[in-house]
Amino acid sequence: MQRSGEDFRTIWLKPDDRSVVQIIDQRLLPHEYRVHDLRSWQDGLVAIADMYVRGAPLIGATAAWSLYLAALHGADPASTVREAAAALLKSRPTAVNLRWAIERTLALVDQAAPGAVLADIIRADAEAICDEDIEISRGIGMHGVALLEAISRQKAGATVNVLTHCNAGSLATINWGTATAPIYFAMQRGIDVHVWVDETRPRNQGSQLTAWELAANKVPHTLIVDNAGGHLMQHGEVDIVITGTDRTTRCGDVANKIGTYLKALAAHDNGIPFYVALPSTTIDWDSRDGLMEIPIEQRDPTEVSDIYGICNGEPARVRTTSANTPISNFAFDVTPARLVTGLITERGVAEASEVGLLDLFPEKRQR
Ligand code: MRU
Repeated sequence: MQRSGEDFRTIWLKPDDRSVVQIIDQRLLPHEYRVHDLRSWQDGLVAIADMYVRGAPLIGATAAWSLYLAALHGADPASTVREAAAALLKSRPTAVNLRWAIERTLALVDQAAPGAVLADIIRADAEAICDEDIEISRGIGMHGVALLEAISRQKAGATVNVLTHCNAGSLATINWGTATAPIYFAMQRGIDVHVWVDETRPRNQGSQLTAWELAANKVPHTLIVDNAGGHLMQHGEVDIVITGTDRTTRCGDVANKIGTYLKALAAHDNGIPFYVALPSTTIDWDSRDGLMEIPIEQRDPTEVSDIYGICNGEPARVRTTSANTPISNFAFDVTPARLVTGLITERGVAEASEVGLLDLFPEKRQR
């Protein structure tokens, strides 16, 4: 499989066996690149809940492919798909693409003609979700690269320093990523760009995933601890912050990996633009107030107490705390719209507000 570039994909149907969906087991990166088989919808559920796959768009796509497996193997395909949908919906509460993909698939089940082969219908749509996601990321890249070009011009071609948090890259989507798409486009256009990569505790999606894929795509980057961003901003080392999001309200409040809010505060204090890149599939048009309405996932305390890495050449997990230290593990936080300079979508860059989003997505006005 491709590990970078135009043909890279994070989920696909096994070429010689259409009863198997394949993913990259992202828990093992960057130390091991292992392809993992999903043979049942329950395998898909585990892959989402245990974060073999993660990132809002890829979570949605994996749910769609899991529903294909449910239809393929269920004695009564429609009821198996509904059973699987109910379980999948609970697997990751914050990323709204999960709900979006499941509702899209269930609508197809409801509309299917008597006698239609549900598995064929759902497979075609899962493929369409993936193809559309790639085009959406391309759109985000095209609109976002203009921001980097403008900074590059202001700096007379000197390096444009981007800070990003977590992994909103190819690995979080099907390809190109959300926050990374403008960066990959900038590279293609010859803009001198460098990325500060937040480590992103507790699961280290920055150090383990973003750094891996930036290296695979030959993007200059430097890993920093999560607490370094404010210092770098104070010293003029950050020109722009671009993050992704797992759910954005119709008023522009942004839920993203824990720690994003602190980056937005530091950017605001230092007059640095803070942009969020997102596909429209991540907008929750039914919610307005992110702090009140977005469910924040709490995950296993061992993600905080333990660190995964390589020790003497072997994969190892190390506990860093004493055994009975009380731990809380909130996976996401909400950045209020007032701290967001703009939302980079596939249709353009919107002001982080209901008016701004509805200008780009007028079909959502009537809700
Ligand atoms: O817990 P994860 O790894 O699924 O969280 C993903 C993120 O928060 C990413 O930062 C990303 O911006 C959202 S998906 C493009």
